[in-house]
Amino acid sequence: MGKIILTGDRPTGRLHVGHYVGSLKRRVELQNSGEFDKINIMIADAQALTDNFENPKKVRDNVLEVALDYLAVGLDPKKSTLFIQSQIQELPELTVYYMNLVTLARLERNPTVKSELKQKHFDGGVPVGFINYPISQTADITAFLADTVPVGEDQLPMIEQAREIVRSFNLIYGETLVEPKAVLPGNRACLRLPGTDGKAKMSKSLGNCIYLADSPEDIKYKVMNMFTDPNHLKVSDPGNTKDNPVFIYLDAFCEDRYFEEFLPEYKNLDELKAHYERGGLGDVKVKKFLNNVIQETLRPIRERREEFAKDPAEVMNILKKGSEDAEKTAAETLSKVKHAMMIDYFG
Ligand code: TRP
Repeated sequence: MGKIILTGDRPTGRLHVGHYVGSLKRRVELQNSGEFDKINIMIADAQALTDNFENPKKVRDNVLEVALDYLAVGLDPKKSTLFIQSQIQELPELTVYYMNLVTLARLERNPTVKSELKQKHFDGGVPVGFINYPISQTADITAFLADTVPVGEDQLPMIEQAREIVRSFNLIYGETLVEPKAVLPGNRACLRLPGTDGKAKMSKSLGNCIYLADSPEDIKYKVMNMFTDPNHLKVSDPGNTKDNPVFIYLDAFCEDRYFEEFLPEYKNLDELKAHYERGGLGDVKVKKFLNNVIQETLRPIRERREEFAKDPAEVMNILKKGSEDAEKTAAETLSKVKHAMMIDYFG
């Protein structure tokens, strides 16, 4: 068996720079590394419905938006299978079989589920479909026999739970499924990019995101209004670079070559940080530099996005072909699973 990737995103909004540095960039690098035999990238619409079931139009519209974001960052349908979760009927079937292997208490202890439950306050009680989503996510991963799951840090408990399900399936029914491992971004700043307001996470509802599709004007406005060190009042004051979003963003996005181009007085980020910490470097100057860096990063992405957006039918066609291809793979795994479970009655 070869090296196989499966990963995906919920289509509940456009993707932002947190997604980019936290996972998308890594996926493109892995895609282009040539080290993988198969790369599956899934738009998780069924999972998005677990907490947006009353909002089907939002989910549907964002399938195209997320697909455009994927193509824009350089995921290439010639190298990666891009597909839509709900079109793979084997996934809910696998989910049903895995449900026997997991207790309700274990689902309730999943840290990601726990923190999402806190945020969402489901009024009429927690829907079964929602609490069940770690199991359905295990179906997503195992259907493709994926060993590598490039994700953001918040998904680690999901992968841990998938590993447990795989181990218990293989123990009971015989070696059938592959235990996956998560692949996180290498750089700490990329693990958890804060919002532009300094809040721990970028989120659409907080209005603190820079989207991949943002115009140059929007990006500039958001960067120039970013939260920085609140104690750095005068230019001469010593500043803090550690919990300062502007510097965290520079850690995530900056490359030495940008200094040559936009801020030649400094050789690299360490020199810039040292100056800020000593005092004598103003926020506006750093923000202008960050704006240049982000503009450079996002320009090619936005331009590619605009190109693909001209032909939405072609984008949907890419997803259709990808879904057909993904379905074949999932069907092969499902028949192995049914065989292992002795429910393959008719050959
Ligand atoms: N839970 C992921 C998210 O919210 C989306 C997702 C669904 C996923 N199934 C997956 C990610 C399987 C990795 C592997 O973004």
